[in-house]
Amino acid sequence: MKEFTLTCTFTSYKSADELPDADLELMNEATKASNDAYAPYSKFRVGAALRLGNGKIICGNNQENVAYPSGLCAERVALFYASATYPNEIVESIAVTAQTDEFKISDPVTPCGSCRQVLAESEKKQNTNIRIIMKGAEGEVYVTESAQCLLPLMFRADKLKK
Ligand code: THU
Repeated sequence: MKEFTLTCTFTSYKSADELPDADLELMNEATKASNDAYAPYSKFRVGAALRLGNGKIICGNNQENVAYPSGLCAERVALFYASATYPNEIVESIAVTAQTDEFKISDPVTPCGSCRQVLAESEKKQNTNIRIIMKGAEGEVYVTESAQCLLPLMFRADKLKK
């Protein structure tokens, strides 16, 4: 028997104002995208913005449905749209945020498990890390340099082979 420890590193900024310019720009785009979320059921409007290798910024927001599982998170809306439209471009970074009229979101919004799996596979596919910038409606911002930090021991395509 042996134990092992996996280490993940996060940077925490007190507020978005402290972010490097490029990250702040991306976060502002994510915030704009959250305004247009279709979230009549949860009323939790999430926005995501990706920066691609060609410099383009692609946005997404959560799209809900009365048949709840049919909806999709903001991160995957943006990631799948980017992959469908610019299949050969890498994703350099993603900013995620959310807003709601129901309560104060002061903790950073961190991607759900399914979005982590998709982010992690995007990294594997492109063979470079994706910087992830996470914020609530206000307050602290977390940044990590790789989706691996959000999903250690991810399920990988090579597990399907002998
Ligand atoms: N949601 C996202 O879009 N991204 C996340 O990272 C967390 C959750 C959405 C799904 C659903 O529409 C709403 O937020 C409440 O869970």
